[in-house]
Amino acid sequence: MAEPTVPADALARAAALRAQIEQANYRYHVLDDPDLTDAEYDRLMRELEALEAEHHALASEDSPTRRVGARAHGGFAEVRHAIPMLSLGNAFEQEGGSERERFREVAEFVRRIEQTLQRDELVFSAEPKLDGLAISLRYEHGLFVQGATRGDGETGEDVTANLRTVRAIPLRLRNGKDQDESLKLRGKGWPDVLEVRGEVIMLRRDFEAFNEYARKHDEKPLANPRNGAAGSLRQLDPAITAKRRLSFFAYAIGAVEGGELPPTHSATLQQLREWGFPVSPEVDTARGFDGLIAYFQRIGAKRDNLPYDIDGVVYKLDDYAGQREMGFVSRAPRWAIAHKFPAQEQTTRLLDIEVQIGRTGAATPRARMEPVQVAGVTVTYATLHNADQVARLDARIGDTVIVRRAGDVIPEVVRVVQELRPEGTVPWAMPTHCPVCGSALLREEGAAAWRCSGGLICAAQRKEALIHFAARRAMDIEGLGERFAEALVEFDMVKTPADLYRLGVDDFVDMKQRADEREPAPAKAGGTTPETVKAGKVATKWAENLVDGIAASKHTTLPRFLFALGIMHIGESTAKTLASWLGRLDFVRNTPAPVLRLLPDIGGEVADSIEGFFAQPGNQQVVDELLAEGIRFSDETAPSPKLRGKLDLANLLDMAPIGQLGPKRTRLLAEHFPGLQQLRDAGAAHWVVAGLSQAAAVNLANFLDDGAASAQLDRAEAAMRRLLDAIPAATAPSGLPLEGQTIVLTGTLQSLGRDAAKEKLEALGAKVSGSVSKKTSFVVAGAEAGSKLDKATELGVEVWDEARLLALLEQHGAAA
Ligand code: IVH
Repeated sequence: MAEPTVPADALARAAALRAQIEQANYRYHVLDDPDLTDAEYDRLMRELEALEAEHHALASEDSPTRRVGARAHGGFAEVRHAIPMLSLGNAFEQEGGSERERFREVAEFVRRIEQTLQRDELVFSAEPKLDGLAISLRYEHGLFVQGATRGDGETGEDVTANLRTVRAIPLRLRNGKDQDESLKLRGKGWPDVLEVRGEVIMLRRDFEAFNEYARKHDEKPLANPRNGAAGSLRQLDPAITAKRRLSFFAYAIGAVEGGELPPTHSATLQQLREWGFPVSPEVDTARGFDGLIAYFQRIGAKRDNLPYDIDGVVYKLDDYAGQREMGFVSRAPRWAIAHKFPAQEQTTRLLDIEVQIGRTGAATPRARMEPVQVAGVTVTYATLHNADQVARLDARIGDTVIVRRAGDVIPEVVRVVQELRPEGTVPWAMPTHCPVCGSALLREEGAAAWRCSGGLICAAQRKEALIHFAARRAMDIEGLGERFAEALVEFDMVKTPADLYRLGVDDFVDMKQRADEREPAPAKAGGTTPETVKAGKVATKWAENLVDGIAASKHTTLPRFLFALGIMHIGESTAKTLASWLGRLDFVRNTPAPVLRLLPDIGGEVADSIEGFFAQPGNQQVVDELLAEGIRFSDETAPSPKLRGKLDLANLLDMAPIGQLGPKRTRLLAEHFPGLQQLRDAGAAHWVVAGLSQAAAVNLANFLDDGAASAQLDRAEAAMRRLLDAIPAATAPSGLPLEGQTIVLTGTLQSLGRDAAKEKLEALGAKVSGSVSKKTSFVVAGAEAGSKLDKATELGVEVWDEARLLALLEQHGAAA
């Protein structure tokens, strides 16, 4: 059959697309200057794929669509390297003072070459030592034909199909002089056979992205970028390699036939760049020992900020003639050396997993290990981040683990060596109780964090608790700043906020003196007697003011107090909600979570946190002590009458996870049975009569049979009862719009006068009062309002201007 002809426009379009795609790869990987977004790149790829699918004759081996090929059956074929792939000798830092001593292996390396070649001031190519997998790429007539791993240096594995998926590797060489045209040209400028060697690596951002994905999809995360690169390349299915984004940097040349390369290594790397190979931008030249060490220090300082992992730098004598003269010893060239950084990862044994409680109660597991040197520092502890991370690592006491310390960051356990796990280890679990105070550790819903619930009594949280308690928006204790709050805790003068109320002037003078001695307050020299006396007087005055401030804080409001307790998730607004709905502290501290959830804006997590806090006897005791010290709330009232509609059997049952029993059905039950007792007494047959399906009735019966679940419902119902009993009986409603509102008028009302205003408001059902109290709904302040306005501001009563009053009257058809 004759080959179908491809229309000229399709041919041209395919060529243009290929050129654009390869240009994008080149700009991304070689120039590090991408010009297309991922989405644009993908669109071009899809268009080319569609075109090639339509016109099969368009397909060609070096099309970018062919990067993902077929799976290798039964492993990889062997490849014998025409020129062996060498390894490098290492230079490590030694003990010593001067650079020549510490880097004596580098000094000897340089001296050996200078002696042999009888030259000094030698030029070296200085390069990062990339931490990935060495490979060799073979190009014949400018086309990529084979790629192999290093293997033992003589023989490697044929991983061509996988390497084709690495976009940083050119499938055909570019002609450096004529970039876009070059994609159509072949065989210009490069040797007939060219082997380019370099490192396949995984960039840190691609490693992070892959692990993020793996964690979300419950796949095994990669231990480090190096394993990511090596593991991905040795995948039998190139589609898997393609999904893990790999990168490549060229750093050496293998076989060269039918052509010539420049006489130095640095010029060759430049030539490779022009042919389309990525070369690390950190590659440089350096002169003599001093130049090499300066490079080493410079890259070392940049190490943590590079986009990829490196484990040192490599120095190579730049000119090839000199390299030939130096030759090899065993498998390592005498003209190159790897100058290694201290290792960032080490293996050691995990002795224990301890739980630390932070200032805010967060519980974090950390590993205690057999001490080990990592990057020049002895490491005994490493972070395990959180309980989920321990589970992901499956770290167990007794395991051999790999710890990593990079730069200034806290050492972390990155991996467990499963193969070395001793027998009899058990998976680790978060302890149920705080190691510091013994209160229950609670898990935050949906978050990885565990927290200690002993907010007021936990020594680990004392400082933070006290600072928060005294803060302006909480108890507003004037004069007690962060510094002194911390000192009080450190000197063991305050264990819980209640202790604060038991301290006297002398205690505070004492504390201030100790705090100032430890860390003198700025510009206050002591010494001569008159000044000390003066300082003593100042301290006494300060302490007296503080004691006054503490005493004044006893007169507070319920929301401030609730906020001050520092209950997890209870901000000012939730504290206000609790106060306005439940009215009294007593109800807040005794209402179970399911009932709290009925309040607006209080979800399960918040309700659990409140219940959990008050479930700790220690916290309750501190609250009692605070009350005993005389803390009083100016705004305690009865629970809100609005609660009435919420506290019934239907809502109670809605909180329980009972299958087939939705809100419609629970409502029907509530209409028939006033409470749990009546519901139980009636029995399943009557529930069905009331409108339940058989299935729902069975589920409900089972639920009520479960002792623990049933008891919880009973507790919730009892709490509902207590609240209901405390709600004041409603006065008969008049049906007027301002019924129940108490309004105070003050100052001169310009447009209608106080008397007229009073009349109109009363006609709408409001009570107009002559004095402001905390029961006042709002104060209308006209011109020159005086003490009543001040009182309103002091009590936090809402203040209206005249315009707003007029708007209200207008709204109810009572305007002037
Ligand atoms: S040159 C004749 N240059 O280090 C020298 N190697 O220990 C051949 N490596 O197998 C290697 N970065 O995997 C060279 N800039 C660099 C390198 C580098 C990393 C690795 C490579 C090699 C190993 C030798």
